Amino acid sequence: MFRVPVHVRMQPGCLAELPDFLAQRFPGRLLIVSDAGVSGTAWFQPLQERLPEAMMEAGVEANPRTSTVDAMTARARERGIDVVLGVGGGSVLDAAKAVAMLLRNDGAVASFAGKNRFSNPSAPFIAVPTTCGTGSEVTWVSVLTDPEAKEKISIKGEGMFPRAAFVDAEVIASLPPPLIAATGMDALTHALEAFLARGANPASDALALQAIRSLIQHLGPCVREPSRPESRARVMHASTLAGMAFGNADVGAVHCLSEGIGGLLDHPHGLLNTLLLVPVLRYQMPDIRDRMREVSGFLGAPMPETLLDRLEAMIHGFPLGSWADLGVNPDLFADIARRAEANGSNPSNRRNMTARDYHIILESLQRAVV
Ligand SMILES: [Fe+2]
Repeated sequence: MFRVPVHVRMQPGCLAELPDFLAQRFPGRLLIVSDAGVSGTAWFQPLQERLPEAMMEAGVEANPRTSTVDAMTARARERGIDVVLGVGGGSVLDAAKAVAMLLRNDGAVASFAGKNRFSNPSAPFIAVPTTCGTGSEVTWVSVLTDPEAKEKISIKGEGMFPRAAFVDAEVIASLPPPLIAATGMDALTHALEAFLARGANPASDALALQAIRSLIQHLGPCVREPSRPESRARVMHASTLAGMAFGNADVGAVHCLSEGIGGLLDHPHGLLNTLLLVPVLRYQMPDIRDRMREVSGFLGAPMPETLLDRLEAMIHGFPLGSWADLGVNPDLFADIARRAEANGSNPSNRRNMTARDYHIILESLQRAVV
């Protein structure tokens, strides 16, 4: 099955059309959800000025907490909010998407963890991604952190798709290069894992391959020179295509591991995926070789291993930290591995992955440090 029931605009500069679009299609009391970084950028001010009546919530943290979402929803209810606009990276969009669902469904957000656990479709939610990785603008899922369980929870359902996504590459022109690198690598991970997932289908494959090619060709130049419009647009659009792909096919072991680590230690999602991607794919290679051969063939690389070598070289060129910098204590490996096996996306792996497999990958990363 494949579906993306989202009105998508994907054009540099399209953000200027958003206020009129909202007025025509989704009139009503508007809540803008964002974070301090985004609301302080030069392009945000003019947008806000054209939406003068909107309520603002600009306090979403990285790895948003369930308590943040519950509190924002309570304030939005008091103001009688009808429509939610999320302007930000994955954390902001996931939090805003959950608020839109909660506005039409009573209860704490954690009580809706899982798939289709809520009765009523969300209040209209419009997404404006401001990084080049999340894909949340075209998916039905919101990933939040439960601070008590120190766990990431996923809330998803047919009624949670954004009504519209405005994907404007101009907004990442001012993004710091390390953030472009980390979020772009999250997008590349989405595309590769979607292609390798058991749920892959011809439509998700087409989107995933196109996204992989764009990101391998353009992410490096975009990180080095974000002011170049062509690379910027290719990377930004690839992020949305990858979102459409994994939203239908699912992700796999890289995300299972990174969500296990991120829930415990709060490290940035894109950075974790960047550092885990190649080691996980190398580990899985015996079971994914045929599919990886299709990817490398599409890109003109002679063998899957050649592609992974290229990927590794690309990652080394990025201004990002290493596994050693994360300070993941080996005492946590068993817990992380158990969480990875329990992740809802684990069954999507072509290679059957148990906690032991994840533990072996973590040990190999640690051995490379020592
Ligand atoms: Fe991701």
